[in-house]
Amino acid sequence: MPTSDLGLDQTLAALGITDAAQVTARFAEVRRHFDGQFQTVHDEADWRLFRDRWLGRKSGVLTLVTDNWLKPATPELKRDVGVSLNALRAHVESQIEVRRLAIESGAEESTLARERVDLSLPGVIRPIGSRHLIRQVFQEIEDIFVSIGFSIVEGPEIETPYYNFEARNIPEFHPVRDDMDTFYLELPKSAKTPLLLRTHTSPMQIRTMEKQKPPVRVIVPGKVYRRDNPDATHSFMFHQVEGLAVDTDITFCDFTGTIEYFVKQFFGPSVKTRFRPSYFPFTEPSVEFDVSCPFCGGTGTAAGGGTCSKCKGAAWIELFGAGMVDPAVYGFVNYDAKKVSGFAFGIGIDRMAMLKYGIDDIQVFFQNDVRFLRQFP
Ligand code: PHE
Repeated sequence: MPTSDLGLDQTLAALGITDAAQVTARFAEVRRHFDGQFQTVHDEADWRLFRDRWLGRKSGVLTLVTDNWLKPATPELKRDVGVSLNALRAHVESQIEVRRLAIESGAEESTLARERVDLSLPGVIRPIGSRHLIRQVFQEIEDIFVSIGFSIVEGPEIETPYYNFEARNIPEFHPVRDDMDTFYLELPKSAKTPLLLRTHTSPMQIRTMEKQKPPVRVIVPGKVYRRDNPDATHSFMFHQVEGLAVDTDITFCDFTGTIEYFVKQFFGPSVKTRFRPSYFPFTEPSVEFDVSCPFCGGTGTAAGGGTCSKCKGAAWIELFGAGMVDPAVYGFVNYDAKKVSGFAFGIGIDRMAMLKYGIDDIQVFFQNDVRFLRQFP
């Protein structure tokens, strides 16, 4: 029954209600009406409409009852109408309040339900990647040298010819520049010095000794650049770890002992090392260190017979260049060449990684193919 059928816009007299029993019956009907409508109120928006329809000051049901039924009631009925109206008001107000609380706490519950974290659900797996094999090998090498007292320094990849060559005892027109004198930056004419991408990490020997008096024990991990055409063993950019130890009494024995320790730590205790004479302008004497071939155990013969493809049957594999620091170098950094001595080495990281992990093409390091990278998690 619509609220309009309750006769709220008429007086009780006009509705033909003349005794107390009729008043009670009419109010019971209003109350039933209220209870019926009340069933349909479930959310906050419904509740507001409902509250206004019943309790609204201007034209709510209770206001209409007061204005149209109570006020114009005959003196005989006024008291009964008043009592019934008060009972109705108490019922309506309390029900509306109870429903408000229910809706509020229900809303809270559903908010809680929505925001609840279910700890039993599988988590979000974030692909965080892993360190590149070159980084891992850097780390292995750094750990070994740090464990025997070396510290790590890093330097600029863009260098001056002075640090890259001259102070390394490589004057202009020295033939060793032939395969290095490249990758110069284009600079304004006013530039004080040309700049080039460093061709080795050796400039950091000079920069370190300029800053620091002996004893010096540093390694320098970093990128270097050369005019090499790409093939299985060459890349225009590759990685080195430079090493330098200078003190008052460093001997050739300290030098070879340190290198042998490093090589065994890196490849395992069963490998042997050897060195052969070589030449670098900044070391004297200079050597190349070799390791007994880790693939055939230094036999030159492959596991299934035949020649080992890695060392080509030589049983030895060339590792890196090194030597005792050439006294001429000390002249560039104001060290007293009569008092100090030391050794230096320049390890090619890419090469070391290839030898240790059996990789036969340097290019795979830089192609970023995940099928390769995932093999070294
Ligand atoms: N700088 C040399 C190179 O890049 C390696 C080296 C470093 C040799 C230190 C001797 C001593 O080839």
